[in-house]
Amino acid sequence: MIFETIISTVNKKGEVNFAPFGITKNKGFIFLSPYIPSTTLENLRATQQATVNYIDDSSFFVNCIVGRKKFQKKKCIKINGYFLKNALAHDEIIVESIREDKIRPTFKCRIIKKVNHRRFEGFNRAHGALIEACILASRIKILKKKQIMDGLNNLIDSVAKTGGKNEKKNWKLIKRYILDEEK
Ligand SMILES: Cc1cc2nc3c(=O)[nH]c(=O)nc-3n(C[C@H](O)[C@H](O)[C@H](O)COP(=O)(O)O)c2cc1C
Repeated sequence: MIFETIISTVNKKGEVNFAPFGITKNKGFIFLSPYIPSTTLENLRATQQATVNYIDDSSFFVNCIVGRKKFQKKKCIKINGYFLKNALAHDEIIVESIREDKIRPTFKCRIIKKVNHRRFEGFNRAHGALIEACILASRIKILKKKQIMDGLNNLIDSVAKTGGKNEKKNWKLIKRYILDEEK
């Protein structure tokens, strides 16, 4: 199973980067597979550590994709990194080994600290739809325009019917981003 999370990493200067990543878990380890190139990949290689942020608010995904990444953050406990202030929970992880690949290396990571911050209040379909829209946005260079537009049309009902003010605002934001990138 793939869990959609926000990964925070730092570079050698200690500058933080946030990015959406799907992670997998096996036998207590966390696996990250960043495509080449990406800042997350560079930072993982440089500092051998990361934070996995578990969130219930899709606005983090939307804001990462549109490049608004100045999130409120707090210092990690065991690693030299940061977690999202509004995360439900976070894991602090260190790289144990790397399976190299020309397209998408895989980092096997050991969890050295798990922290719970807030209660999970339940699923919301608008959040799910917004994460799907972010996936479409992140594949804009490889998908056909029609696939992206059909995808958006299938998602809009969930946002309109089950979203709050923020989700409707974020839908406009990600749609605008996609339309601008498609030009
Ligand atoms: C929900 C979601 C999951 C994603 N999972 C991955 C992933 O597992 N691997 C990957 O390379 N990119 C993934 N992406 C795309 C990256 O977030 C995107 O390439 C991003 O620009 C990388 O940012 P960075 O260069 O700051 O690390 C995902 C995007 C979304 C919206």
